[in-house]
Amino acid sequence: MTLDLTSEVQLDPTIQFSSLTTLNEPQHIFLTGASGFLGAFLLDSLLHQTQAEVHCLIRCPSEAEGWARLKKHLEFYQLWNPALAQRIHVVPGDLSKPLMGIEDSVFDFLADTIDVIYHSAAQVNSFYSYKALKSTNVLGTHELLRLAAKQRSKPVHFMSTLAVFFSPAHFQEEPVKETDVPDVALKGGYKQSKWVSEALLREAQARGLQASVYRTARLMGDTRVGINGNTQDFLCSMLKACVHLQQVPAVDANINMMAVDFAAQAIVKMSLQVENLNRAFHLYNPTPTHWNELYAALEAAEYHFERVPFDTWLERLKQATQAEPRSRTYAPVAFLLRSPTFLFAPKPPMDNAQAQQALAALNLECPVNNEALLKLYMDYFKSDFFN
Ligand SMILES: NC(=O)c1ccc[n+]([C@@H]2O[C@H](COP(=O)([O-])OP(=O)(O)OC[C@H]3O[C@@H](n4cnc5c(N)ncnc54)[C@H](OP(=O)(O)O)[C@@H]3O)[C@@H](O)[C@H]2O)c1
Repeated sequence: MTLDLTSEVQLDPTIQFSSLTTLNEPQHIFLTGASGFLGAFLLDSLLHQTQAEVHCLIRCPSEAEGWARLKKHLEFYQLWNPALAQRIHVVPGDLSKPLMGIEDSVFDFLADTIDVIYHSAAQVNSFYSYKALKSTNVLGTHELLRLAAKQRSKPVHFMSTLAVFFSPAHFQEEPVKETDVPDVALKGGYKQSKWVSEALLREAQARGLQASVYRTARLMGDTRVGINGNTQDFLCSMLKACVHLQQVPAVDANINMMAVDFAAQAIVKMSLQVENLNRAFHLYNPTPTHWNELYAALEAAEYHFERVPFDTWLERLKQATQAEPRSRTYAPVAFLLRSPTFLFAPKPPMDNAQAQQALAALNLECPVNNEALLKLYMDYFKSDFFN
């Protein structure tokens, strides 16, 4: 049966945003996805850039266990700061459940207390179907909107992806604007689930919600230590496969990637400016990285390769996958290469006038992926991930 994404956009009619929000300094923030890659850096930025208490939705059996997990997670990214930690509160829950799996009384307390919501949690998985992702990515957003509406309206800052535009309708000469609505003819469960979430958000906005959408490019490690929590990503998997095959494909392609700490800092700073509310922002690196620069960075990290035509490399990958069908190095790459918008495929041209303006007003400039930063990334991969 074909999936009709439009019919998936069903917002409970009782979710209504009656009162207009007055935007003061937030005292209480609700954050999802703090135990993830971007979410950890969002939490750090929120703690540094506001004085607010941050209530983090964490999948955990108890507050104590969630707290221990979050502490370990922040330590992993070298973000743990005991002086700020007292402003973190763990809310046990699960996005895939009604009311996000939050106890009724806690949900009511949050509905009454929270000033603003940052929604970063999602199942970020390019292998799963829409059906598999729906409960967390779509119904989770639905329940989050229920929280945003209850008692008094709270603005929502939604983390999305530029990939919502990777559909045939947007392969046009005119760059995709931040004000454009993504076309529905989109392939891939993950992108589809983000499309439906964005559509739910638009429906809620039509009912009075104040919301901003941040569509980011591929996130890479942070600029201080290069730690990358996104290693299941296609680019990371591809680099690892090259290291193991000792071959790289000769490809003329640019890859857009943005350091996660910059993305988080930019999102939080932009979100705190009233004039940025009710807008969408395309956050991509103005200086894309050529595949050859990544290849050079691998060589600088003392990996040695044979450079071969793409088809030869594909054949080599196929052989390696057949020889090791359960390999976690080759199989994911082989699978992802089947996607029509795979790593090296052309992407629709993008415009980011609104993001440029907002970033310039805050004196924020996206770090260039220069040799030093790429070295930091490769050194991190070399320390563990590439083994
Ligand atoms: N990474 C990128 O390159 C990229 C690019 C564009 C957009 N984005 C968007 O940015 C956001 C964050 O991505 P990320 O890379 O940080 O992802 P991530 O590292 O995989 O983190 C996902 C987060 O979502 C949480 N989560 C998943 N299912 C949940 C559920 N049922 N209930 C509650 N929490 C749940 C995870 O919690 P657990 O720890 O319990 O699993 C984790 O905290 C996503 O919305 C994604 O679409 C990411």
